[in-house]
Amino acid sequence: MPIGAPDLSKCQPSLAANCCLINSRSIVDFKLPSTGALRVRPAAHLVTKEYILKYANATRLMRSLPLNHPWNFMQQANVHCAYCEGIYNLSNFPNMTLEVHSSWLFIPFHRMYLYFHEKILGKLIGDESFALPFWNWDSPEGMGIPTMYTDPNSSLFDNTRAQNHQPPNILNYGSTNEGNNNISSQIEANLEVMYRQMVSSAKTAELLLGGPYRAGGDEPWSPGTVEMAPHPYVHMWTGIDMSSFVTAGWDPIFYSHHSNVDRMWEVWKTLLGNNSTGVNYINDTDWLDSSFLFWDENLQLVRIKIRDVLDTTKLGYVYQQVPIPWSNKTA
Ligand code: C2O
Repeated sequence: MPIGAPDLSKCQPSLAANCCLINSRSIVDFKLPSTGALRVRPAAHLVTKEYILKYANATRLMRSLPLNHPWNFMQQANVHCAYCEGIYNLSNFPNMTLEVHSSWLFIPFHRMYLYFHEKILGKLIGDESFALPFWNWDSPEGMGIPTMYTDPNSSLFDNTRAQNHQPPNILNYGSTNEGNNNISSQIEANLEVMYRQMVSSAKTAELLLGGPYRAGGDEPWSPGTVEMAPHPYVHMWTGIDMSSFVTAGWDPIFYSHHSNVDRMWEVWKTLLGNNSTGVNYINDTDWLDSSFLFWDENLQLVRIKIRDVLDTTKLGYVYQQVPIPWSNKTA
């Protein structure tokens, strides 16, 4: 059985996870956007000043909405908490809690989440072409915190980020606390991790995306290679907010981190020459019909299924093409 979207009227918040979502009596099924120009998600370290101003302005507007508005920045952040902290049960299996991590739900769920977040940001600034940046942590120039996030006066700032991980420090994929002894050997080590997670250990879609999570089945613990590394290290290395499910979405950098996670699926499918859909689950209706609820850019609560998000071009976006420096490493 596919995972059924939660019944938002049945929220059981906890002290730690006080993140019930706003409910609505009207829920409509997701429809693909009508075709227009594709939004191009840019690498965060390559954007112009104008882009940064635009994105910061959109996020500032989101932060200034009333707290009980579904587009409010904290409401947006709560989506993450709501889908993994056990505060909702599956509507079709009320004794199972919803958990979007550690299984084949991981990549498609976060794809949906970013899709709506991006459309709402665009709506707030009246720019339908607005596209989220991606934190290009898989390339040497992108391995540090992108500068757009480091201005303490910007809406893109978060004051819980690790002081000792500011630029020019770069990510350490194998450890969340240690600094870099030597930047160039750290880069090499990181690229080897990328090669392993994307190529040598990800020969099938199941390995890349993670294993099944079915309603009525066991609670999953079979994360795909993309979820296992460097994804959690990027979270924990960045700072306190980014380090837990409840608070990760409070830091705006979360959305560009996950934009790159999402991009990895595209890179795996296209550049690495894997099969055209990249999905061996393509006929598995438990996966295809798993459904989730999100507030959209028309202030409508929408039910969306994994089958709706298999093709980013149908969702209206692509990623800026940048070099893939790890594709010929060995590890
Ligand atoms: Cu929902 Cu990066 O985790």
